[in-house]
Amino acid sequence: MTEEIVILDFGSQYTQVIARRIRECNVFSTILRYDTPATEIAARKPKGLILSGGPSSVYAEDAPLPDRAIFKLGIPVLGICYGIQILAQYLGGKVEPGQKREYGKGTLTVTDDSCRLFHRLPESLQVWNSHGDRMSKLPDGFRPVAVTENSEYAAIENKAKQCYGLQFHPEVVHTPRGREILSNFVHGICGCGRNWTMRNYIEQAVEEIRAQVGNERVILGLSGGVDSSVAAALLHKAIGGQLTCIFVNNGLLRAREPEVVQEVFGRHFKVKLEFEDASRLFLERLKGVTNPETKRKIIGRTFIEVFQSATRRAGHARFLAQGTLYPDVIESVPIAGNPAAMIKSHHNVGGLPKKMKFKLVEPLKCLFKDEVRQLGLELGLPKEIVFRQPFPGPGLAVRILGEVTPRRCTILRNADRIVVEEMKSSGWYYKVWQSFAVLLPVRSVGVMGDERTYDFTVALRIVESQDGMTADWVKLPYELLEKIASRITNEVKGVNRVCLDISSKPPATIEWE
Ligand code: XMP
Repeated sequence: MTEEIVILDFGSQYTQVIARRIRECNVFSTILRYDTPATEIAARKPKGLILSGGPSSVYAEDAPLPDRAIFKLGIPVLGICYGIQILAQYLGGKVEPGQKREYGKGTLTVTDDSCRLFHRLPESLQVWNSHGDRMSKLPDGFRPVAVTENSEYAAIENKAKQCYGLQFHPEVVHTPRGREILSNFVHGICGCGRNWTMRNYIEQAVEEIRAQVGNERVILGLSGGVDSSVAAALLHKAIGGQLTCIFVNNGLLRAREPEVVQEVFGRHFKVKLEFEDASRLFLERLKGVTNPETKRKIIGRTFIEVFQSATRRAGHARFLAQGTLYPDVIESVPIAGNPAAMIKSHHNVGGLPKKMKFKLVEPLKCLFKDEVRQLGLELGLPKEIVFRQPFPGPGLAVRILGEVTPRRCTILRNADRIVVEEMKSSGWYYKVWQSFAVLLPVRSVGVMGDERTYDFTVALRIVESQDGMTADWVKLPYELLEKIASRITNEVKGVNRVCLDISSKPPATIEWE
């Protein structure tokens, strides 16, 4: 059975980071809402419990509070930031509103090196604080084991009860040795092994998929993106010929995209692949349309239509597989002022019509993106697919401003191919979040040889980002920008000018439409 650490989410923007850090220690972790009943937690038989941070104060009227019985589960508990206030509130300590918010870097001094949390760590550590309230009285049976400039209770322990509290955030990168503290908790204190690896996960997932689908057939919409590609490779390993992948060419894909998917999945993996070339239909329907939202709607509707008819042709299937990831299924905590609660993807595929009565198979549902990538490599997918940059569902249509025509698609595809080639050969492609070309409906005068030209402008959009929610433009070397620009103006017919987009998100967005 998989060993598990349960993280109760009190609304911190870092809760998912805690979960990822634990998994980086090769231990499985699950995020549950702060008010999950203790019986439900006990039924999972976790090896340890972490109480996350959160934006509230335990004394606030609507403070998120856990089931009191979580302290009777008999497993180690670690409270982080707001979590340490919960320990105080429930176990006989006291928290006072701080005079000022302690925010930013601090130095932690370990005063008792017998505490297992700091095993093999130096006496002095850089840590990251972000809290308003501070503990003024220790909970019963606890003692301080580390201090900071502003807090005599920066880390506390009750060894007999295996209960620990940290005032600072060990999960963030600004606490450079925080991983080791978390590792000490899960390995040293909870006694977890290192069994959560993608190699082990494959075996488990294959068994689960087989048990779920039996002899039935499964359909998967393959987009060529990381998630659907990894899901396809995993399902193929589990059920081979019972899987049919449907790939829709909407005529708005990047250069060589359909070919790569056919090569990798059709020829290499020998997946049953229904290749739907609907480019003409999509482009026909986009004729004369310039409004960005209308474009998206037309593309969305047409996709569903094409996909539906392809599934009918593929024969009767009871299951539909999707590359849903863990961040999509974590229930967000509805706490006022919780930034994590507002972060919702605005364009997760709205889903197929309800009347398509499929049961869902979601084999990546408990994985984070970086784990999905590792899984993809483990399954033998090429780096080109596993580390590819995000590409929007409506494809080049949101990068061709104004009307989408076959000619404009060709122009943009050629310009974009050059951007990708140069980014890859200079080693920048895998360092940035996205790098692509945008075709502007602006024509300007240029000169080529003895002739005047009146051609389009291409904008370069190259951004760095953690999750696409915010982004900044990347300061690429001038030489590289120069090479991209000169290749585009020389090699792409119809373009005589290249501009660089230097806006951040917000206030701009990453895509132009
Ligand atoms: P924006 O333009 O909103 O994009 O800053 C944020 C991230 O989302 C991607 N994106 C999309 N992905 N369907 C998708 O699957 C879409 O309609 C869509 N629009 C934007 C974008 O590429 C960026 O990574």
